[in-house]
Amino acid sequence: MEGKIPKPIKKWTCHKLECFTDWIESYVQTPVSTRRCYIELYAGCGSCICKGTQCQIDDSELRVLKTKTKFDKYIFVAQDPQDAINLKRLVAPYSSKSNLEIIAGNCINEKITQELFDLIPRSASSFAFIDPPGYRRLRWSTIKKLAKHSMDWKGHKMELLIIFPLEMALLRNLTRPECQASITRLYGNRKWQEIKKGKLEGKIRPGKVRQKLVELFKAGLKGLGYRFVTDFSPRRLTNPPIYHIILASDSDSRIKMLGDAWGKDRYLPCELLYGVKDKPS
Ligand SMILES: C[S@@+](CC[C@H](N)C(=O)[O-])C[C@H]1O[C@@H](n2cnc3c(N)ncnc32)[C@H](O)[C@@H]1O
Repeated sequence: MEGKIPKPIKKWTCHKLECFTDWIESYVQTPVSTRRCYIELYAGCGSCICKGTQCQIDDSELRVLKTKTKFDKYIFVAQDPQDAINLKRLVAPYSSKSNLEIIAGNCINEKITQELFDLIPRSASSFAFIDPPGYRRLRWSTIKKLAKHSMDWKGHKMELLIIFPLEMALLRNLTRPECQASITRLYGNRKWQEIKKGKLEGKIRPGKVRQKLVELFKAGLKGLGYRFVTDFSPRRLTNPPIYHIILASDSDSRIKMLGDAWGKDRYLPCELLYGVKDKPS
């Protein structure tokens, strides 16, 4: 699916983006007394097209730029140069030269992360959206760098909202020998191998394997000093959900926001009642 503009997506991605819109709208409502910086590590081309319905929708980058209350700075890292060019064109009406930066490059690359850090305003309250296209592209070393990079004037670390690719990617590859190194890079340690062993020996039930894989990642985030590390399973559009959400923050107000955004039944843009009312649960 990579490389096409607009990016072809499935219904669950549309659902994820709709939830993200609610999340980011409520995020910017929280008052802050400092500048606010939005970072997106795995940016796309700005626009998506849903397979089946041919419904064209905004990607997360456009959605964050269109919130009623604005961030002071936006930084997007897109690996694909064509995506970066397209994104630049689409975001132009919603941004200025001074408040938006698009970095074309690999966000796990040392030089790119340094470029990113140099652009974050000092003492800003920063939020990073991390939506990798699979666990192989996500590395613990990157998460650690983000958490350690900077704090706002209250001593709060960069908040991280991670779309954790649990079902499609990690769970399916857990026992494959060729995937061992990339899973270790994801967690930054080999403790996940205990979960694999338990799965192979039939000592850990499949549902528990999912939970333990999420808990292990959360434990790493807690070890970085975050006061609130929580996870959420999105309202089921697929069963089980393809991804899991993990949030690391120093503010407890975010926990309810996660449930509000990802926990409700909702209509999608291709459905008649979209925008008119919430779906009854
Ligand atoms: C799951 S999509 C998310 C796109 C967008 N944030 C959204 O909500 O639809 C992942 C994107 O990350 C980009 N990507 C993959 N590896 C990357 C990397 N190492 N650095 C930066 N971007 C990357 C891909 O090109 C793809 O557009």
